[in-house]
Amino acid sequence: MKPKVFIARPVPPEVESYIARHCQYKKWDGPEAMPYDQLVKEIADVEGLLTSGGKLSAELLDHAPKLKAVSTMSVGYDNFDLEAMKERGIIGTNTPGVLDDTVADLILALMLGVARRVSELDAYVKQGSWKRGDNEALFGLDVHHKTVGIIGMGRIGEAVAQRARFGFGMDVLYHNRHPKPETERKFGAAYAEMKDLLRHSDFVVLMTPLTPQTRGLIGRSEFALMKPSSIFINASRGQTVDEEALIEALREGRIHGAGLDVFEREPIQPDHPLLSMHNVVLLPHIGSATKQTRDEMAMLAAENLVAALQGQTPPNIVPELRD
Ligand code: DGY
Repeated sequence: MKPKVFIARPVPPEVESYIARHCQYKKWDGPEAMPYDQLVKEIADVEGLLTSGGKLSAELLDHAPKLKAVSTMSVGYDNFDLEAMKERGIIGTNTPGVLDDTVADLILALMLGVARRVSELDAYVKQGSWKRGDNEALFGLDVHHKTVGIIGMGRIGEAVAQRARFGFGMDVLYHNRHPKPETERKFGAAYAEMKDLLRHSDFVVLMTPLTPQTRGLIGRSEFALMKPSSIFINASRGQTVDEEALIEALREGRIHGAGLDVFEREPIQPDHPLLSMHNVVLLPHIGSATKQTRDEMAMLAAENLVAALQGQTPPNIVPELRD
């Protein structure tokens, strides 16, 4: 008998066929997130769940007494209640690796976009405001040969470091739980204490996963250390930053600008103060969102799930749930 699984997010046809070969399945195909009550019903007798982003609380898991494995189509797994999964012996997997270059590309786009005011000036041209040649009011800041400070030097951080160092001739500082000598050698990166990184970087790129330790990691005192000319980039999770403190720092000119792919609450609310600020570039959490990468993430997530349900050790069990 094939194991029963539920697919809570749309997946490409080849991923669905792969799952169909190994499992009995039902799926949610809606463009919006699945309503909680419906998910509760669908997981009542499944052994596997393929999801992405949706919160997996202890309360939700209580509705799925047969659940053996949850596979998220994301590298971040802050949606997992790790304690509740551990207690219930549920395997949890994510999709590291396949998205590193795609997310790093987007981070560079945010750095360039804010520094050179790409969206602001695109709107300026399109609305017919370009009336004369050179105009100092449109000048931006350089990216090349500046200093980037990367907070959280995982695989995506390294892909950013590579682009920054070899593409733009930048100096790379980084802060991480542990120094990484190999990364330093490869990218000419230098380990810095958090305060030093904030003081010396022209671009501060936040790439830490969201954990109890990193929640609210960047707040008033961190923004106060940054240069007035600096640009803050967040492509990790919105909750790693105190958004009110960020808005204050931007308003008061304590930092120059920000490029944000993630927010405390997503989707961002229509009356959010960031929406009316000119010195920010805001994106709808699309770091890994290219067709190719999302397809690869979906396939990897499906492979993780099938392996777990077949009693093998899936390659991407999240560290906290490994034996
Ligand atoms: C990830 O993979 O964690 C991205 O943020 C998409 O959710």
